[in-house]
Amino acid sequence: MTVPRQLRVEPAGERPLTGRLRAPGDKSISHRALLIGARAEGRSRIRGLSNGDDVRHTLEAVQALGAGADKSAQGEIYIDGGQSRLHEPEAVIDVGNSGTGIRLLAGFVANIDGLTVLEGDSSIARRPMDRVAVPLRLMGARVDGRHQGSLPPLVVRGGGLHGTEYRLPVPSAQVKSAVLLAGLGADGPTTVHEGVPTRAHTEEMLAAAGAAIEVRSAGQGASVVLSPGPLQAGDIDVPADPSQAAFWAVAACTVPGSDVVLEDVYVGRGRAGFLDVLVRMGARVELLNEDPVRHTADIHVQAGPLVATHVGGAEVPSLIDEIPVLCVAAALAEGTTTFADAAELRVKETDRVATTVALLHALGVGAEPRADGIVVTGRAGAPLSGGTVDSYGDHRIAMAAAVAALCAGGPVTVKGWDATATSYPSFEEDMFRCLT
Ligand code: S3P
Repeated sequence: MTVPRQLRVEPAGERPLTGRLRAPGDKSISHRALLIGARAEGRSRIRGLSNGDDVRHTLEAVQALGAGADKSAQGEIYIDGGQSRLHEPEAVIDVGNSGTGIRLLAGFVANIDGLTVLEGDSSIARRPMDRVAVPLRLMGARVDGRHQGSLPPLVVRGGGLHGTEYRLPVPSAQVKSAVLLAGLGADGPTTVHEGVPTRAHTEEMLAAAGAAIEVRSAGQGASVVLSPGPLQAGDIDVPADPSQAAFWAVAACTVPGSDVVLEDVYVGRGRAGFLDVLVRMGARVELLNEDPVRHTADIHVQAGPLVATHVGGAEVPSLIDEIPVLCVAAALAEGTTTFADAAELRVKETDRVATTVALLHALGVGAEPRADGIVVTGRAGAPLSGGTVDSYGDHRIAMAAAVAALCAGGPVTVKGWDATATSYPSFEEDMFRCLT
């Protein structure tokens, strides 16, 4: 599917969003499904894998590292994995735009004897890698990169790892996951302590693949203890991505008359914080068909007035990716909304404090950058201005701009729309299908 370089979005006007919609397969779970499938002994079947470029790069990476991959006529992916298949790659591995891809792969290849070089696009070249390099070095991997080993390309010489006990200095599921994936092949147990909860997919999926893993809650956070050992292949059913569903949730809250059901969304630990924020803002949101085993639900959202809130503290990791679109909700709410404790925004695909504030300013919204967040002056439902927004190559800025455009007084042109190919190539198609 080719995605245009720019998109012009007309205001929704009298057309509400209605009907049922399934967002693409969850990106975080998709990366992990491929890596766990590549490491597990035998053939794994993955249903509902994300169709974005980020996950395609991870699929190509596990193939370059020795896993087999086949696609069924129904679009399921079969991964033939196992420790004895994995080997040093023949060429540099390109992760594209994916921070999750490069950080999880760094942990994964730390278990493979030999040298792996991981590189990506110009955004990846600016993303901090010391957060994974430091613990992987503690485990015995040799990890180097630009800027004293802290920026990509990353060069990892793997093998001979020791178990470790590591306290995350920044709450990061990517770092936790890199250490756990490395720990699978270490010579003893690996423990990761996190002070505040982050998404738990790696723990959940390793347990499902038969790993000896235990999660102990500790204060607000948790300690994860993993013993090394083989994984078993199995079936992985990827639910819809809450971070993508969040765009539709905000659109349905803010476009008058909307009534939408978002199907089969992962709402487990560390992912559904955006729903709590929307509920605090007065949104009409209910969960239907909750499945406590898969941690999924259908999310029913209806339009209604929103009020400002404060977002900060321990909830931030559970909604960090949704802040650009939550800022659009805040722009349409009554009152001033503050996003704090979110300095991590500065080191995402773009500096999302700067690019979100630029988006809001381009559409006539009062917004101020802070070192660790954004302050948004709500317009209490008054339309935003039409105009031009630059995604700066960041998929979530592009999609947040398209949602904002639905509530603008004139057309909005989103430059750099093609960035959405990384995570949601069919966003435009889904948007036009729901506008009735
Ligand atoms: C992700 C974790 C988060 C998130 C990213 C995906 C993951 O990053 O922002 O989009 O799949 O583990 P951090 O772990 O760096 O906070």
